Amino acid sequence: MKFFSTATLLLATGAAAPAVAQTSAALTDQIARLSAQQEAKVIAWRRDIHQHPELGNQETRTAALVAEHLRKLGLEVQTGVARTGVVALLKGGKPGPVVALRADMDALPVTENNNLPFASKATTTYNGQPVGVMHACGHDTHVAMLLGAAEVLSQLKKDLPGTVKFIFQPAEEGSLPGEEGGARLMVKQGVLQNPKVDAIFGVHIQAQTEVGKVSYRPEGEMASSDVFNIKVKGKSAHGAYPWLAVDPVVTAAQIIMGLQTIVSRQAELTEDAAVLTVGMVHGGVRNNIIPEQVELTGTIRCLNKEMQQKIWAAVRRTAKGIAESAGATAEVSIENYAPITYNDPRLTEQMLPSLRRAAGPSNVVLQKAVTGAEDFAFYQEKVPGVFVFVGGMPKGKNPADTAPHHTPGFFIDESGLTLGVKTLTTLAVDYLNGKK
Ligand code: NI
Repeated sequence: MKFFSTATLLLATGAAAPAVAQTSAALTDQIARLSAQQEAKVIAWRRDIHQHPELGNQETRTAALVAEHLRKLGLEVQTGVARTGVVALLKGGKPGPVVALRADMDALPVTENNNLPFASKATTTYNGQPVGVMHACGHDTHVAMLLGAAEVLSQLKKDLPGTVKFIFQPAEEGSLPGEEGGARLMVKQGVLQNPKVDAIFGVHIQAQTEVGKVSYRPEGEMASSDVFNIKVKGKSAHGAYPWLAVDPVVTAAQIIMGLQTIVSRQAELTEDAAVLTVGMVHGGVRNNIIPEQVELTGTIRCLNKEMQQKIWAAVRRTAKGIAESAGATAEVSIENYAPITYNDPRLTEQMLPSLRRAAGPSNVVLQKAVTGAEDFAFYQEKVPGVFVFVGGMPKGKNPADTAPHHTPGFFIDESGLTLGVKTLTTLAVDYLNGKK
């Protein structure tokens, strides 16, 4: 029962947390005041970006806005990182470690259906189809909150013991086929080097979590995302004479059912959740022809690495074994799209008091794992990192009555943004002070 035992561990060790030099009450008040002062600006940036959404790897206007503001603050700014990414350094007045804060900048091919003065009217062609463009996952708020945090941290610069690296990342939602992008490309291009990053933090706005709340989960917080493809090869024949064929349709059907027993029968579900979904089945052209091949494609979601490896092996074994039993063959390929968003347990425990200070102790919630994926995981593969959620749902609203992320009615209550600024700033300041 990892979920509960971890919580118990955090509670039990809360009093004897690692020897972190805690931020003074005066500095806490100062961060709260400076963050609140940013509110109007943060909302204005957010609305501007919301009205001008850009798909992944095309965030040129957003990147220019970000770079301009960071230069005004006197930061060292690098543009064109991983195509449209912006990276900036804030060097504190005292020596110390390097902490990175990350925001993603891309929008989605979704047509906005909100009656707001700043609703998106942008359109594009995606996969050959005309569609709207919308910040339907709230990445506009992430950019605005991180710009606000850059402003606050700039005002605290003199006393900061170390360096803050701001990472404004393109294409979190994925790149077009054949295109590289996102966190994977940023890491490849050395964003965690020069200067070397010691820890990284990121926040995601959450449309089903009340304004004022912060939620987190140590270890596997969001799932890895793997794409599998299975080519079931048999032998074609007339549909009236199946004994002359090796039928890949029936074999593929057996494989689909076999795959569904992997999570239900072979994964230790009390340890962590896992999901395996077949999303595409392609084969055949006519009712009375048994085709030569059927292709299955799907997704695997895991929250711990060991289980992920076991499931990969089981997918291969199940597909090949069932195919063999039918006299067919199965070619299996599995590709990792995003690793597990893994919150380093020690760093999470170390930063928990900071989250509680930013949001108020009763507003920090231990959450369930999420089977969606997030490419922040690529940074966490290289350096310890913590990713948390910040509430964007109007207070008192029922989450069941709100539009999910990635849908046309997705809505964020902007009164939640100041807490995002405060959380990012507090995490950075406390991490640098704690490492002194
Ligand atoms: Ni997102």
